[in-house]
Amino acid sequence: MRVFSGVQPTGNIHIGNYLGALRQFVELQDENACVYCIVDMHAITVPKDAALLRENILDVAALYMAVGIDPKKSVVFVQSDVPGHAELAWILMCNTYTGELARMTQFKEKSRGNESAPAGLFTYPVLMAADILLYDSDVVPVGNDQTQHIEICRDIAIRVNNRYGKVFVVPEGRFLKEGARIMSLDDPVSKMSKSAENPLSRISLLDDETKIRKSVMKSTTDSDGLIRFDPANKPGVSNLLNIYSAFSGQPVSDIEKKYEGVGYGTFKKELAELTVDALAPIRKSYEDIRRSEELRAALKDGAERANAVAERTMARVKDFFGLGAK
Ligand code: AMP
Ligand code: TRP
Repeated sequence: MRVFSGVQPTGNIHIGNYLGALRQFVELQDENACVYCIVDMHAITVPKDAALLRENILDVAALYMAVGIDPKKSVVFVQSDVPGHAELAWILMCNTYTGELARMTQFKEKSRGNESAPAGLFTYPVLMAADILLYDSDVVPVGNDQTQHIEICRDIAIRVNNRYGKVFVVPEGRFLKEGARIMSLDDPVSKMSKSAENPLSRISLLDDETKIRKSVMKSTTDSDGLIRFDPANKPGVSNLLNIYSAFSGQPVSDIEKKYEGVGYGTFKKELAELTVDALAPIRKSYEDIRRSEELRAALKDGAERANAVAERTMARVKDFFGLGAK
């Protein structure tokens, strides 16, 4: 299968992102042709500081490689390095209705309260469709929040195919495991998030040991003292059990047994050490990669490989549409 996913170049990538998404990106690369794109053009749909964006692009690329995405197996590249994305987005925009874009909940949320929103925010889903269709992708692993964007991508592909012939492969979304959904440490009924104000609410992949320990030790639990998995009544403890299980590979029921009659303090301390140990190699490898010359070389190589595919697709698409002098 051809697998494609895009990630925004932002900081604070946390264990929720890792367990919910990144780990699966790594697993997929052994059996499939995977393309992982750092979507910097999507990032500028809201104003960004240029120097910071550049740094974030390299940070995310290094982090992806540090968790095990191998740029020799997978194609890892930066969206704006491949002109086909913007080019195809225009053609798709001519086959998308303003009404369907106006229904996107992400656009409604992001533009709420603003009298005028950037056109790029409105057409964001079309650029995303271009990302996917440019590589004839079969499968797109994404979070549930992207359901509508995958649906509109499929709708556009089907519409173009009906009008022009077999132009595009119609992709499927592969929704990342909800079971692996990691909740906020200070408010365990909401999702762990990159943007929450309290840094103790999350464990970022690059947190140092002191910060990891502090986040776990200060996490919200309850007062009944039982280490039991019961998300409805014990969301804090259940979230910690999920994290423990994800990092140790042990089923939750075994962990419950192991900590029967043990206090929260001990449980948290051991979870903190488990997390420290799980993230230490990622941080170490991140620091080596981020500083290396190979990082830029890998992205350049990724862009060349992506471009080769993109150019082939664009030639085919232009033929179907009758574009260009030939
Ligand atoms: P985002 O933070 O929205 O850029 O998320 C990137 C990916 O990480 C998404 O595809 C989600 O599947 C995943 N993700 C984000 N937050 C969590 C979370 N708290 N738990 C599990 N997965 C998450
Ligand atoms: N919109 C996605 C997000 O915010 C990022 C993205 C852009 C993407 N292009 C994509 C995801 C193509 C999958 C495929 O998470």
